[in-house]
Amino acid sequence: MKVCVIGTGYVGLVSGACLAEIGNDVICVDAEAAKIALLERGEIPIFEPGLDELVNMNSLSGRMRFTTSLWEGVQASDVVFITVGTPPLPNGEADLSAVEEVARGIGQSLNGYKVIINKSTVPVGSGDWVALLVNEGMLQSRLGRVGGGGLADPDHAYDVVSNPEFLREGSAIHDTFFPDRIVIGSQSERAIRIMRELYAPLIERRVPGRLPSESHEVPFIVTDLTSAEMIKYAANAFLATKISFVNEIANVCERVGADVTQVALGIGLDRRIGNQFLNAGLGWGGSCFPKDVAALMHITKDYGYDPELLTAVQNVNQRQRALVVQKLQRHLKVLKGKTIAILGLAFKPNTDDLRDAPALAVARILLKLGARVKAFDPIAGKGAARLLPELCVCESPFEAARGADALLIATEWDEFSALDLVALRAEMSPHSGAMSRLQENPVLLDGRNLLNPSEVRAAGFTYQGMGR
Ligand SMILES: NC(=O)c1ccc[n+]([C@@H]2O[C@H](COP(=O)([O-])OP(=O)(O)OC[C@H]3O[C@@H](n4cnc5c(N)ncnc54)[C@H](O)[C@@H]3O)[C@@H](O)[C@H]2O)c1
Repeated sequence: MKVCVIGTGYVGLVSGACLAEIGNDVICVDAEAAKIALLERGEIPIFEPGLDELVNMNSLSGRMRFTTSLWEGVQASDVVFITVGTPPLPNGEADLSAVEEVARGIGQSLNGYKVIINKSTVPVGSGDWVALLVNEGMLQSRLGRVGGGGLADPDHAYDVVSNPEFLREGSAIHDTFFPDRIVIGSQSERAIRIMRELYAPLIERRVPGRLPSESHEVPFIVTDLTSAEMIKYAANAFLATKISFVNEIANVCERVGADVTQVALGIGLDRRIGNQFLNAGLGWGGSCFPKDVAALMHITKDYGYDPELLTAVQNVNQRQRALVVQKLQRHLKVLKGKTIAILGLAFKPNTDDLRDAPALAVARILLKLGARVKAFDPIAGKGAARLLPELCVCESPFEAARGADALLIATEWDEFSALDLVALRAEMSPHSGAMSRLQENPVLLDGRNLLNPSEVRAAGFTYQGMGR
C-alpha cells in the first residue's frame, strides 16, 4: 500500500520503517526540516536499537522516503498515519495543536479516498474532532482558500480510524513487528478492511527474516473510536499503577524488613498478576506514562469524576523521587557541598529519551540542595547536558564516580550490572566514608534494585536498595 506517516519521532519513524519492511511504499513527513535533512542523509535523529539499519535499508530500496511537505505525502498515499506528539500542557491536558494542524492539512490535501489513522495518543472523542478538522480543511480547499485537492466526491473522501500504539522505546521494532494485539477504532467497513489488509503480515506474524516467538494470530480488535482511544489511556494508567503499587509495597517492605524483589517474584508468578512492571525503584517517567495518566485524570475531571486511584498512583510516583534524596540525606546528612554520581539518565535503558526522566528530576533536587552532580549515561549524556547545564556529564561510570561521596543508579542499563565495583569504589572520594558521622563505606544507592547487595558490600560500599 501507499502509506504516509506524519511525524517522524519515536512512533512515526519506527512505524514507517516497519511498514516499509513488510512491503509498503512509505513517505514520512515531518515539519522539522532539519530532521528530514538528517534522514535524507541516512542519519537517524533518535536512538532506538536496530532503527538506523531498518531505515537505511528501506530508504536504499526506495520503499521509504522523506519530505517536509504534508501535501506531497497525503497526495501520494492511500492510508495516512498521524503520529505527531501530544505533549502535556501545564494543567495536564494533552496539547493537540500538532494533531489539529495536521488534520486540517490532510483535509486540504485530499485527492481521493484515504484512511486517516490516528496513532498519536489523544483524549477520548478526538477521532470525531479530527474528522471535523479534516472536513474543515477540505472545505477550505474547495472554497479555493488553499491549494485544493480536486476531489470528485468529497462526501466519501476519507474515514478516520483510531489505532493506538503500544510500542516500548528500546524494543520498539520488535513490538511493532510482533504486537500483543492490534486495536482499531472505526465504524467504517471499508476502513477496517483496509487496516486488516495493511496489518495482515503482522497479524499472521509473517515478517521477512524474523522469527516470531509465538505462532498464534495476533488479536485484531475492532471497536468504536471512543473505546479505542480509552484502551490506550487505560493500558498506560494500569501499567503506571502496577509500578506505583510495587513501590508502595517496597516502602512497607523496608519498614518490616522484607525484600521487595522476593515479594515481587512471589506475587508475579501468579498469572493473574504477571511478573512485568513489578520492579520497585525510582518510579515511572518517560514520554508516555506521566502525560497519559495526567491527561486521563483531566478527562475524568471534565466529566465530573474524581480519579482517586490515579491521584494516588501519581503521588506515590512523585514520592519515590523525593525518597531517593532522603535516603542520600540519611547517609550523608548535609548534601550541600557533597558530590553525587548518577549512573543512568534516560528514563529507561536502551533509549535516549529524557522526557520526564526520574534521574533528571532527582538531579534537579540535588542541585537545588547545593550538591554537585556528576552523571554518566551510555546514550543520553549529551541531551541531558543540554537540558540541565549544571549537570557535570562524564564519559564513563568511573569518571562520574571520581571524587563522589555517594553513587546512585538511576537507570537499569545492562552494562551497569557488569561494572567492576572494586574499581568504581576506588574512584570515590577517600573522605566519603571516614568523614561521615556513621564511619561507613560510601553509599551505593541502587535506585533500580539492579545489583547484588552482597557483591556491592564486598566491593567496599554501603548498599542501599529500594525496599530490600
Ligand atoms: N514514544 C512512545 O513510546 C510512544 C508509545 C505509544 C504512543 N505514543 C504516542 O505517539 C505520539 C507520538 O509520540 P513520539 O514519542 O513519537 O513523539 P515525538 O515527539 O518523538 O515525535 C513527534 C514528531 O512529530 C513532528 N511534528 C510535530 N508537529 C508536526 C506537524 N505539524 N507536522 C508534521 N510533523 C510534526 C515532530 O517534529 C516530531 O518529529 C504521541 O501522541 C505519544 O503519546 C508514543
